[in-house]
Amino acid sequence: MTSTRQCGGIAKGASAFAILLLLCAATACDSSKDASRNDNSSAKQTATDKSADESAATAEAANREPPVESVPGMAGQSGLNIIAFTPHLISGAVPENTADFALLANHKIKTIISVDGATPDVEEAKRFGIRYVHLPIGYHGIDKERQMEIARAVRDLPGPLYLHCHHGKHRGPAAAASAAVALGMLPNEQAITLMKHAGTSPSYAGLYQCVSDLKKVPDVELDMAPTLFPETAPVPGFVKAMSQVSHAYDHLKQVRDADWQVPEDHPDLVPLAEAGKLENLLRALREDPEHKKYPPDFKDMMEESWQSAVDFEKLLTDKADPDDLKKALDRVGQSCKACHTPYRNKK
Ligand code: HEC
Repeated sequence: MTSTRQCGGIAKGASAFAILLLLCAATACDSSKDASRNDNSSAKQTATDKSADESAATAEAANREPPVESVPGMAGQSGLNIIAFTPHLISGAVPENTADFALLANHKIKTIISVDGATPDVEEAKRFGIRYVHLPIGYHGIDKERQMEIARAVRDLPGPLYLHCHHGKHRGPAAAASAAVALGMLPNEQAITLMKHAGTSPSYAGLYQCVSDLKKVPDVELDMAPTLFPETAPVPGFVKAMSQVSHAYDHLKQVRDADWQVPEDHPDLVPLAEAGKLENLLRALREDPEHKKYPPDFKDMMEESWQSAVDFEKLLTDKADPDDLKKALDRVGQSCKACHTPYRNKK
């Protein structure tokens, strides 16, 4: 995936027009979702009508801490790290059990969008009359097409919508923020403040850039985004996933060799993103039908490999002691070997 296809690349043409739109998003257009669907000329009109004073006041208002519209009874209570970007669009962690789905259903959620890699629990959601849409994204930013697809899903599918990744901290809030800005539901600054509120790490510069660079997307452009809205996204084949695992792991070894800093010869490398990717891939691999080809301990080994990646990611997030980080990464490496020795290397 080249950087130009990522949303980070959209910023390059930022113009006075973009600023006008941004102003618009912060003023007239944020009052309702429908108002945001004005065409560009009326957006321009609105912005030019504003006096300089009003513009300044608007900018100030946008910078102020936005009221976090807590969903009554939902936030805090669930451990789902719930953040309401708007009353129509809520981000959080993956609903893991019946109680979580019941909570979402009680709060009238009609559609759940997962941007996580793992296959969602479509059946459990259905039991509660909730539709699932699976549109996975990575940690480095959101592919432009996927960004439009998510925004379109938020625009067109029945709401309120619940948008989640795994922990509800990084990718989910970024995708929610991106959709809210694309639809003119929130000004950029406010969307970013809510991402911070959700706990999106500043290390994920690509995720923040996706939102800061974005402007409201005209409906005609959104109308071109795919509408398949699959319940489950196709997962990469086992071998492809393994090679992605291996890339992430190699990057983490380079980070280790650079004393847990971003390696000088790889300035784009985001250590936490690599750890998150590794964790995600291994989590999804635990469910891969490939394990049926192997004896039962294969699945246990995948579980251990994933667990080691979870622990490593946590230590990296907590900026743990370098020795502990090294030990944790060694454990990941051992988990790869433990499985490869009997099952890959001796076929
Ligand atoms: C539970 C078993 C298991 C674990 C854990 C595991 N692998 Fe694998 N891996 C396999 C098997 C089996 C293959 C061979 C797949 C094939 O060719 O059909 C493989 C293939 C690979 C390949 C070759 C991919 C290609 O393009 O042909 C790489 C690289 C790899 N693994 C890296 C890793 C790394 C790095 C880890 C640890 C972070 C890891 N694997 C963890 C089972 C495992």
